[in-house]
Amino acid sequence: MNPYLTHIDYPINIDKIKALARQRTQDIVSKDYASIPDQHGFNRITIKNNWEAYAQKIYYDFFDEYPTIDNYKPKIYFQAANYQVPFHTDTDANSAVNFVILDDVDETELLFEDGPTFKYRSAILNTNIRHSVITHLKKRILFKINSPEPYEDFVKRCKYVRL
Ligand SMILES: [Fe+2]
Repeated sequence: MNPYLTHIDYPINIDKIKALARQRTQDIVSKDYASIPDQHGFNRITIKNNWEAYAQKIYYDFFDEYPTIDNYKPKIYFQAANYQVPFHTDTDANSAVNFVILDDVDETELLFEDGPTFKYRSAILNTNIRHSVITHLKKRILFKINSPEPYEDFVKRCKYVRL
């Protein structure tokens, strides 16, 4: 098992996520995502209401049995072009399922401190290891479900690990 990141193949409905993101963020985020970054330099929105049903379906699809701890947290992140998120661990999760939903993401890099760098579209991440994300020419939009499951357990139980 790769201790940092595991690629997955899950048939996520990208158009649905994009449409929900647009709908959800219209009155929260201005058209220029870079204009209102938080203290980490990027915007995050915890998904509620109309997001919840689809996010829950995705999250539960990963397990043969429903997760024992049910405090998963779906979020969407907007990161400006040409920006590096500072190295950090995710404080509210042990692992995460990440889907990069912006089409052109080939330049975006996920760095683990003193570890490897990844380019990916969908993966389970070990968010307990310090990491950073660098964008170059393109802004990045990420749909993410934070999980309390330890990374190794999540990967072992996941039905969508890329072989
Ligand atoms: Fe993170």
